[in-house]
Amino acid sequence: MVELNTVIFDLLYLLAAILFIMGIKKMSHPRSAVFGNLLGVVGMLIAAGVSFAIILENESVQTNTTLPLGTIVGAIFIGTFFGTMLATRVQMTEMPQLVAIFNGVGGLASVLVAAASLLAAKEDAMHVEVLIAGGISGLIGAITFVGSGIAAGKLQELAFFKKSIPLPDVIRHFLNLLMLAGCIWCIYAMAVNGDVAINFIGICILGCALGYTLTTPIGGADMPVVIALLNSYSGLAAAATGFVVDQPVLIISGSLVGASGIILTSLMCKAMNRSLLNVLFGGGAASTYEEDGEVYATVIRTSPEDVAIMIDVADRVVFVPGYGMAVAQAQNAVSDLAQQIEERGGTVEYAIHPVAGRMPGHMNVLLAEADVDYSQLKTLEEINPDFDEVDVAIVIGANDVVNPEARKEGTPISGMPILNVDDARQVVVIKRSLSPGYAGIANPLFAADNATMLFGDGKAMIQDISTALKDLD
Ligand code: TAP
Repeated sequence: MVELNTVIFDLLYLLAAILFIMGIKKMSHPRSAVFGNLLGVVGMLIAAGVSFAIILENESVQTNTTLPLGTIVGAIFIGTFFGTMLATRVQMTEMPQLVAIFNGVGGLASVLVAAASLLAAKEDAMHVEVLIAGGISGLIGAITFVGSGIAAGKLQELAFFKKSIPLPDVIRHFLNLLMLAGCIWCIYAMAVNGDVAINFIGICILGCALGYTLTTPIGGADMPVVIALLNSYSGLAAAATGFVVDQPVLIISGSLVGASGIILTSLMCKAMNRSLLNVLFGGGAASTYEEDGEVYATVIRTSPEDVAIMIDVADRVVFVPGYGMAVAQAQNAVSDLAQQIEERGGTVEYAIHPVAGRMPGHMNVLLAEADVDYSQLKTLEEINPDFDEVDVAIVIGANDVVNPEARKEGTPISGMPILNVDDARQVVVIKRSLSPGYAGIANPLFAADNATMLFGDGKAMIQDISTALKDLD
């Protein structure tokens, strides 16, 4: 007969799985995202609590538990300490690096759990499908671990991670195929011959090497897609480990992460007009940033006072936020200026590019923080046809997402849809210098006939415009 405790534990696992699904659903809108996150946290607490309770129960019935309780409690403490420290100290602009690190340790955890489970079991007692799942977990987990570390380093702009692999693309692709074939052979050998330890180690080493060779050549503007894809990999590795340890809630949560990561990857590819194959195997186009004044020969500098006069007579003003607004933490100042413009009879909208900033939805989150009405946020598809009716477009800390070079062939951002701010009657670009954006290329918008540059920190400049606007009364 099935024990009552087992039924209760299974029901609690089911509740955790339902909370994960509801949490993901709620995350599809900025307003409900925080609640969705909380549902996920509660689900995770229940799942971890039940796993803990099962271990406690097992320990009381059998004395031969393989892992002492103290080890588990210690691990929870260490994880909680580092997780809390990272989450509370990280800047909003460094969130993608944190996500990359979380993906990486998720992948590593899957590898270690699968390894412990495979190595602890008696080889002749293991089913072929469990061994295959273990091999897949080792492969994807190892790729995720190393790939995410490299992605985090690239996002942190550490010089070491900017280097590419000095091999022609054809040889690199051939090596990758060879390593993948090696992994598949190891999984086969493990499933058929049962030499678990040596083959699993082989899979992990080849997986780590693949993580390096697949991620290192990808650069610049393609990094968001890679992060989303690695997120999906970490879920798939967890789901595969779920099969190894026979843990349905791990299979469900891993599959959810895997599926949502793939959906996000596909949305990001669409936003950048790139195919996934092109991102993964195309290699980065060379940076074409020109230090000389050729591109910027006709740049015109403006002042907060002149911008105030410009927007005082404007009917329609559009703010175009980018990564620099996040760095400057200028969202509240922008929202205050917008309110001032509206009080003077103008209309204000915000043009949001899907990859503006450093993570999906970055600008939406910042503007929601500043209580900007969601109806004022316009997607690229909504605002682009209207830009020629916009009196003043104020670009604050955005660069790549408004760079007309995307319309040309052979640049690192070729084909990426951009916000057509150059169609607006007047464009004001607020940034500290003429330095390039994330993709590392010059931006001819800054020297366009209808554009002026307001050099300075985003928040300070917006506040100066606000003051100048008040002074006009
Ligand atoms: P970027 O192209 O990165 O340009 C940001 C600009 O902000 C820089 O040119 C910088 O110029 C300026 N800036 C920095 N600090 C500032 C401050 N305190 N005040 C004013 N300006 C400041 O940003 P973007 O247009 O938002 O484009 C995003 C890029 O990041 C894309 O290439 C995208 O592919 C990539 N990316 C996106 C994501 C996601 S998912 N959104 C993730 C990873 C990478 P100065 O130094 O001259 O001030």
